[in-house]
Amino acid sequence: MNSIVLSKKQFYELKDMVYAISGINLHEGKLELLKSKIAKRMRVTKKSFAEYLSYLHANEKEVIEFIDTVTTNHSFFFRENRSIAYIVNQLASQPDAGKRPFKIWCAACSTGDEPYTIAIQLAARNLPFSILATDISHSVLETATRGIYRNDKLKNVPVPLLHRYFQRGSGKYKGFVRIKKEIANHVRFEQYNLITDAPLSDKFDAISCRNVMIYFDMPTSERVVNKLYQSINPQGYFAIGNAESLMNLNHRFKSIPKIPSLYIK
Ligand SMILES: C[S@@+](CC[C@H](N)C(=O)[O-])C[C@H]1O[C@@H](n2cnc3c(N)ncnc32)[C@H](O)[C@@H]1O
Repeated sequence: MNSIVLSKKQFYELKDMVYAISGINLHEGKLELLKSKIAKRMRVTKKSFAEYLSYLHANEKEVIEFIDTVTTNHSFFFRENRSIAYIVNQLASQPDAGKRPFKIWCAACSTGDEPYTIAIQLAARNLPFSILATDISHSVLETATRGIYRNDKLKNVPVPLLHRYFQRGSGKYKGFVRIKKEIANHVRFEQYNLITDAPLSDKFDAISCRNVMIYFDMPTSERVVNKLYQSINPQGYFAIGNAESLMNLNHRFKSIPKIPSLYIK
């Protein structure tokens, strides 16, 4: 139980702010979660309720910290890997494979599990590549950069790749693994907000934007999809999450038969 009383008006002000900054649509079911997060952040920032609310309104970094509670950063290695494996196979069979580094953008990368998953598979095929991995949340990017994971996040990693690309922790790191430098060196983590940041002028051979649009409404998803479209090379790939769909959105991607959640420009 927490003692915060959030009026309807305050809730709707918070909801509008979170929507404007992150595209995330809060519903009233998140009220208790919001209250407990506010209580926690009040303790951390040593502010009263009223002070904290005005601080939040004036501080985008704090809003992003706040948003971390209402989204999930849940991710794991080799999650929904069918579309990734397909992209890797297709890239490997291109005539210029090996002649130039493939460029991939993982656009809501959370703690890094997904970009490292892609990196491992490209490295295992001896393909040169670079991956840009972005997220709105500073804290997940810190975890991603550290590259240390609990063993249970790696249950789906094929054993030979596990042995080749991870170091097993010992002592206080028993039960953890660290991604090897030879993989981490290919992945650059940066903060990027899919809603408020401008389209990237760089062009990528594939963009993965998975399991974030589930938090967006249709107009927001449509804007994000069309923004990312601009940063994909002709014939490049666009992967979304298995629970997401481009159906009912206006976009120019073509679907790929038998590979759900994967599109081509
Ligand atoms: C459930 S995780 C998805 C992780 C990974 N893509 C996967 O499929 O396993 C969703 C991520 O989206 C991020 N996110 C939420 N809103 C965002 C926004 N407006 N721009 C960029 N990232 C955002 C969250 O911080 C979170 O790390």
